[in-house]
Amino acid sequence: SSASSSDVDGFLSCLSADIPPSLIYTPANNNFSSVLVSSVRNLRYYVTPDTTMSRPLVIVAATEPAHVQTTVVCGRRHSVHIRTRSGGHDYEGLSYASVDPHRHFAVLDLAALHAIHVDASRAEAWVGSGATLGELYYAAAAANSTFGFPAGNCPTVGVGGHLSGGGFGALSRKYGLSADNVLDAVVVDAEGRLLNRSTMGKDLFWAIRGGGGESFGVVVSWKVRLVPVTETVTVFSIRRLRNESAVDLITKWQAIAPALPRDLYLRVLVQNQQANFVALFLGRCGSLVDTMRGHFPDLGMTERDCQEMSWVKSTVFFNYGRADLPAEVLLNRSSNPYYYLKVKSDHVQEAMPGHAWESIWSNWFEKPEAALLMLDPYGGRMGSISPSATPFPHRNYLYQLQFYSVWYENGTAALEKRMSWVRGVYEDLTPYVSKNPRAVYVNYRDLDLGTNELEEGGNVTSYAKARVWGEKYFKANFKRLAAVKSKVDPHDFFRNEQSIPPLPAAA
Ligand code: FDA
Repeated sequence: SSASSSDVDGFLSCLSADIPPSLIYTPANNNFSSVLVSSVRNLRYYVTPDTTMSRPLVIVAATEPAHVQTTVVCGRRHSVHIRTRSGGHDYEGLSYASVDPHRHFAVLDLAALHAIHVDASRAEAWVGSGATLGELYYAAAAANSTFGFPAGNCPTVGVGGHLSGGGFGALSRKYGLSADNVLDAVVVDAEGRLLNRSTMGKDLFWAIRGGGGESFGVVVSWKVRLVPVTETVTVFSIRRLRNESAVDLITKWQAIAPALPRDLYLRVLVQNQQANFVALFLGRCGSLVDTMRGHFPDLGMTERDCQEMSWVKSTVFFNYGRADLPAEVLLNRSSNPYYYLKVKSDHVQEAMPGHAWESIWSNWFEKPEAALLMLDPYGGRMGSISPSATPFPHRNYLYQLQFYSVWYENGTAALEKRMSWVRGVYEDLTPYVSKNPRAVYVNYRDLDLGTNELEEGGNVTSYAKARVWGEKYFKANFKRLAAVKSKVDPHDFFRNEQSIPPLPAAA
């Protein structure tokens, strides 16, 4: 909403009726900047050469669900939109910044709502949206060392945004996405009501499990199914240079990795002149060596590559690349942003030919501004879930890929160089990747795909314009998401650059 139509003073006094002043931060407050930056990951939306973005008018640091309800009710009443922030890891900073300099919004920060209650007898847990994945992994394993949870590889990612968009990780070939393992949720809707699975209805419960954050309400907490993992798991990390066999191995990996037994996840990280094959196996070293010999002898994996550990330690290994750190590092939430980030992602349906890999490598990866390329295999459980079971439709690809560009230099020159590298390689890959539409995973937010505009003469987001980016994230599920939005938030209170618009009556 515009500055003229939003009543910021009215919003603040409305908040203060129910929320202690110590939890409300305006730019006049000395702590405003430190609270704002507390979970920021991407300097591109914090310190940026581009000053045409906007910052929040106020930050509400909720410590109980009632504060969430009050913020929504007051926001509606005084036309102040909110951006909900759980872990702050959004690739495009949507939880705390806006590329539109005229947006006026409040940040509703849920970091304090991070309690986790494990019911070990049922292998279930209630998790606050403000918890991090690391806290969830730690709590699950502390209750029982054979409990795990399928979710992302970075322990500081927030549960709130991650589960809202899907949640893919090392256990997804065996157990699906995080969202596939959500059993219940507590949501504050656009009317400020606190709803659970039985009171929110089937459609809203479908939409919040993969339809992307922000659009439908504020999810306060989630009930998740904890999944069985072996007492001991085995990991390896095998590097092969480009001038050894890396291109040939990647070419073969494309068909092999998605067809491996579900207990084995084998990803590839390509950077500089090498490919790093990283694996998690639910089992012991001997059996992993047999499996690798049977399915991928060319990699030459042997017992010397094995590192056996508990599952929770494997989550440390996947983030830090080393196994000698204590599991307690998973509880470290502190985030001091020190890099700029741009990611573009894709999906691959048919293995790319070796010559394509060769030319991508020589055309793109020899440049100093090259990004990290991550290849993550699907198959297994991922491929056996219907594309309409949740809003996440990308079930039948061989693998996803991400161009993950991180840089440390300030200024426009560095920004432009990195951005154009990522955009250029994305363009060049067009013949080899998903088509009609190009398939993108919503948790890898990419504003290059398009940003929302209001309907002409109206005050809700245009459905026709949003389809351009929306169908890339959701395919046919986009229309159903818009239909749910019309029911639960017809006035489009929960909005951002890529929120789901209400479905117009004629569509
Ligand atoms: P953040 O708080 O920024 O929220 C993201 C979006 O969801 C925003 O639009 C926000 O408004 C909304 N939102 C947040 N909380 C909400 C709530 N409670 N209710 C409703 N809306 C809410 N993904 C993956 O699948 N596998 C992986 O391995 C990784 N790894 C990874 C590493 C790193 C370093 C980063 C920066 C990101 C990833 N991701 C990932 C992507 C990650 O899953 C994605 O950015 C999540 O949305 C982040 O959730 P946060 O709560 O941290 O983000």
